Amino acid sequence: EQHKKEIEAFTGENSEAAEAFRIKYLGTKGIVKNIMQEMKNVPNDKKKEAGQLLNSFKQFAEAKYETLKQLSVVSHQPSAKNIDYTLPGDDITIGTRHPLSIVRSQIISIFSRLGFILAEGPEIEDDWHNFTSMNMPENHPARDMQDTFYVQKNPDWLLRTHTSSVQARVMEKQKPPIRIICPGRVYRNETISARAHCFFHQVEGLYVAENVSFADLKQTLYFFVREMFGKDVKIRFRPSYFPFTEPSAEMDIDCLICHGKGCNVCKHTGWVEILGSGMVHPNTLKNFDIDPEIYTGFAFGMGIERICQLKYRVNDLRLYSQDDVRFLKQFAGVV
Ligand code: PHE
Repeated sequence: EQHKKEIEAFTGENSEAAEAFRIKYLGTKGIVKNIMQEMKNVPNDKKKEAGQLLNSFKQFAEAKYETLKQLSVVSHQPSAKNIDYTLPGDDITIGTRHPLSIVRSQIISIFSRLGFILAEGPEIEDDWHNFTSMNMPENHPARDMQDTFYVQKNPDWLLRTHTSSVQARVMEKQKPPIRIICPGRVYRNETISARAHCFFHQVEGLYVAENVSFADLKQTLYFFVREMFGKDVKIRFRPSYFPFTEPSAEMDIDCLICHGKGCNVCKHTGWVEILGSGMVHPNTLKNFDIDPEIYTGFAFGMGIERICQLKYRVNDLRLYSQDDVRFLKQFAGVV
């Protein structure tokens, strides 16, 4: 009876009070357990009566505990009583555009001013669009499992290794003149480091028409670099090799991160390669029934990560995919 009175008097409207009550009455060392232990001292003829008494006491305590729990939940709901309408509101945090999508838009905008039209395609590709139609021989190293993620063998399905596959899909459907840029995510089986990732983003371009020359290729790419990085940037054009273009060239610009002082991005050479390019190989054109005697074309491809790295001095490629807001927030307001 004494405990019953105490329990009735027990008040509290928060979860701490409810928990204190539980420990005191219903816990392993609580009052209910204590009384249970006393039961063995009760004479046999009184056992039944005492047992009933104890049971009803236990139920009583449990019911009280439930009530206290309910009260503690309810008291946490804001009600007209406990809201202070004079407090300043929480700021609404607005996200920022990802640096890669900022640079992607910049690249698209520059080429669209030259009449290039956007084209997109699937990330899972077949062998024909990614490799064979691009004049890549059966034994080309890029086809190796070491470099390419295969989804399935025979027939081969793979994660595209470049967006040249989109050029293939456009040439398949459309006759020249063709002037497209193909942005998109590509995949290569590389060890992740400050300079490489197993996926990255490319923008590739293709222009096929009558009388397209290497001079056009050069002028287009020079225009791009100056628009992207400013008029003063130094440009270097080097001969190179790609199976789908002939002749081929790579373009370097001076390292905008260290300006020749030496850093990891330019590997202390002062130059950073930003793109591959070339005149579309006659075999590539023939694969799409485009007559190389009538039409010529140029193509180029660049990694958005690298362009972004130079433009905004990002010295580690991994930052792009780590979702660290301290990094991402720095691009607030860049359009
Ligand atoms: N497809 C090449 C790559 O991914 C880039 C490239 C595109 C080179 C077009 C030449 C012409 O590396």
